Amino acid sequence: MIHNTIQDKITNEFYWFHQHPEVSFKEVDTTARIRKDLQEAGIRILALPLQTGLVAEIGTGDHPIVALRCDIDALPVTEETGLPYQSVYPGRMHACGHDFHTAAILGAAYILKEQENHITGTIRIIFQPGEEGPSGAVQVVRTGIIDDLDVIFGMHCTPLLEVGNIGYIYGPAMAAVDAFQIDFTGTGTHGAHPNKGTDQIVAAAAFVGAVQTIVSRNMDPFAANLVSVTHIEGGHNWNVIPDKVFLEGTTRAMTAEERKLIRKRVDSIALHIGEAYGVQTTVRWIAGPPALCNDAVWGKFANEVAQKHDFVLAPMAPSLGGEDFAFYTEKVKSYFTFVGTGLSYPNHNAKFKVDPAALYPAALYMADLAVQAAAKLKGSTEHD
Ligand code: NI
Repeated sequence: MIHNTIQDKITNEFYWFHQHPEVSFKEVDTTARIRKDLQEAGIRILALPLQTGLVAEIGTGDHPIVALRCDIDALPVTEETGLPYQSVYPGRMHACGHDFHTAAILGAAYILKEQENHITGTIRIIFQPGEEGPSGAVQVVRTGIIDDLDVIFGMHCTPLLEVGNIGYIYGPAMAAVDAFQIDFTGTGTHGAHPNKGTDQIVAAAAFVGAVQTIVSRNMDPFAANLVSVTHIEGGHNWNVIPDKVFLEGTTRAMTAEERKLIRKRVDSIALHIGEAYGVQTTVRWIAGPPALCNDAVWGKFANEVAQKHDFVLAPMAPSLGGEDFAFYTEKVKSYFTFVGTGLSYPNHNAKFKVDPAALYPAALYMADLAVQAAAKLKGSTEHD
């Protein structure tokens, strides 16, 4: 394919992905479309036990092995952008730009396929399902396909930067994410006779206040940590104290140690508030991704490649948002880059949008990053 054709093709594919969003682990049509696109370009697809998503490969099959990863899933949001290529499904939208990632990395695959004979080693391309949860990256890791990688690169679009900018963070970039759910159970009673039972609402309210002291009293004030209670349910009318209150929320931390400490404190506060108020508390944890820590050496390397492609580099602040790319970073040297897609409403908003003008430059950059990284890895083994 000549380059104009690649640009047109991936722009067209981006519109299609955007119009046909599928939520986590339901990316059946999306996967079929990617598969067809890759097969038509003669790109080999690996046989892996994945229901949705897929992994392709370009190059010799030998080391060095460099991976590019994108995510392909959408969100349960009803789109309100008014774009001509708006989602055709009410209640589903590519509100995090994973359609952009998919189309850009598809473009990188086309570009790499054209240079296949000149590639040192292997470029593996991961179209990952279920980033929005629960953690499609874990399914990919379980296939073993990342075990022999030398380095992996991921990307996310950002509505904080104009097209033509690459955002970067070295070191801790995104948070470890956990969700907790707590049942406060006891003996419900008449609203006028609280002494005849236990008050699950008072206990839950005490927990909500107390849990805020974890970040303010137990953590280093210079560190970024968070505990949010986001959902409480209990009771159904004005004169009955219910026998059960349900409460859930999320915790965020930038290191594994802080993550552990927050969890320990939430457990302890729930247990002891329960004891203090005579209420039974049961805590359940739903673990999300670990903190995403960017390798600074590969980050600087990626930024040099970006500059060669005339991108302007923009330092970005770390975020307490989560990203399941972090599951790869636990096992392989890795770097997660941010591609400016034009200022817009934030990710996950019904009016979020990306400028398709950012697509082709991102594809060129990611393809070249993979090629240059493989060449660098080859050079370093020869010199050893
Ligand atoms: Ni995202």
